[in-house]
Order: sequence, then structure tokens, then C-alpha cells
Amino acid sequence: SALADSDRPGPGPEVVAHRGASADAPENTLAAADEALAQRADAVEIDVQRTADGHLVLVHDATLARTTDVAQVFPTRANAPVGAFTLAELRRLDAGSWFSPASAGERIPTLGEFTDRLRGRADLLVELKGPARYPGMEKEVAYELDGRRGVVVQSFDHDVMRSFAEAAPEVPAGWLFDGRPTAAQLDDAAAHGVTQINPSFEVVDAALVAEVAARGMQTGTYTVDDPDDMRRIAATGVDRIITDRPAVLRTVLAG
Ligand code: G3P
Ligand code: CA
Repeated sequence: SALADSDRPGPGPEVVAHRGASADAPENTLAAADEALAQRADAVEIDVQRTADGHLVLVHDATLARTTDVAQVFPTRANAPVGAFTLAELRRLDAGSWFSPASAGERIPTLGEFTDRLRGRADLLVELKGPARYPGMEKEVAYELDGRRGVVVQSFDHDVMRSFAEAAPEVPAGWLFDGRPTAAQLDDAAAHGVTQINPSFEVVDAALVAEVAARGMQTGTYTVDDPDDMRRIAATGVDRIITDRPAVLRTVLAG
């Protein structure tokens, strides 16, 4: 498979920790990476954006309001976009207290710090989050990940993924979908060298997995947290399942 660096305990879909093991640690932090490793995830999914001074950092939302104490630290900028802050400013924020008192002091990591934390221990599924806001970001991510093994880059923005594939043809590329991809979209993806199709789990069934496989691509799906959903999705033959609860998924797959 494209995500091949980690030691997989058995057959079946790869276990991907969504934003890290985000049910048990603050999302998109090094603590969530450590928790994903502790829960034996094969890979970790993260969301990448860019600071005002050009650093690649991990944040999911368009603003910092939900996952940090930005309202306390920068009261007039609580709803400013992530890209309006420098890395030094982001470093002042607590990205853990919102989740639990025990997570206080977690910081927003850079992409480089996060990949270093996982190196050789789990693979990485990098989502370019809202990349239209960050022109050229895909080329910077390609440069940052150059030569790294066990990495897939994906986005809902398929135009940006076409540009990424030109910048880094050797890195496996994924297209995210909100709904069920059409045959035309799957043909388009295959024609652009996409290797991973990643729709929301509600639309995934064995027929879709077969349609994707017939075009030489793999299917992943997000975000599957309920054990009954995990069982149904695993039975479709998907190649990877993205979950906030890697340990629960491991248990379901073992049963
Ligand atoms: O990996 C796919 C999934 O993360 C996409 O949704 O909103 O969690 O980034 P979201
Ligand atoms: Ca994501």
C-alpha cells in the first residue's frame, strides 16, 4: 500500500488517527500524535495551514477560536483567520486547555515538528486545509515532505491537488469528497495520477470501493467513530479508515 512504513499487525484496513487520536487528546498537537502511537494507529491524519510569515502549521478550523485561548491572548483578533498570525504569535497560544486541564500548555506544531515526531513509527496523511487561502502552499508542502516515506497528501480542493501532483509526482495524492464521487470524478482523479479516493463514510459501500479499485486507486473514508459503523465500513473492503478512536477501531477489526 502507499502507507507502507508502519508495522501493521494484520490484514484489513489501515487505522488512521483523525487529527491525531483526537477523542483522547487535543487535535492536531504532538500529544495527539503520541496518543495515536499509543493506540497503535498505522497513520495519523493532520490539517495543514500557513502562517503570515510562511510557516506550515497544524490547525483545522479557519480561526483559532475553538481550539486555543486566542480570545484571552489576542482579544481583538479572536476571530481573525489563522493566516493572519505569525508563528511566534501562534506559539503563545495554549492549544490544549480547551480539551482538558491535563492538556494545558500544548502548542500548535509545525508540519516539520509533527513529521519528526512520527518518523519511522507511523505514516502521515496530510490534508491541505482550505489551500485556496494560501497560494503556492502545495509546493511548500511538497518541498517539506521531499524524500519522506509513508506520506499521502490530500485535499477537498482538487485543483490544488493537480498542482501538487505536478510539484511532487512521487508523493501519493488523495482527493477528498463530501458526497459520493461520480464515475466522471473517479475517471478525472485516475487521469491525474490520484492514488487515494477519500469520501465521507456515509456514502461508502462495496460498490464504490470496487469502482475505485477498478481504476487502480484505493479508498479511504472519514470519520468513523461508532463501532457499528466501523464494522459496516470494514466489510466494504476499504483500504483505510479515519477515526478519532484508533484503539476502538483496532478492537473492532480484531473481533
Ligand atoms: O481526512 C478527512 C477528514 O479529515 C476531512 O474532514 O473536517 O475533519 O478535515 P475534516
Ligand atoms: Ca482533516
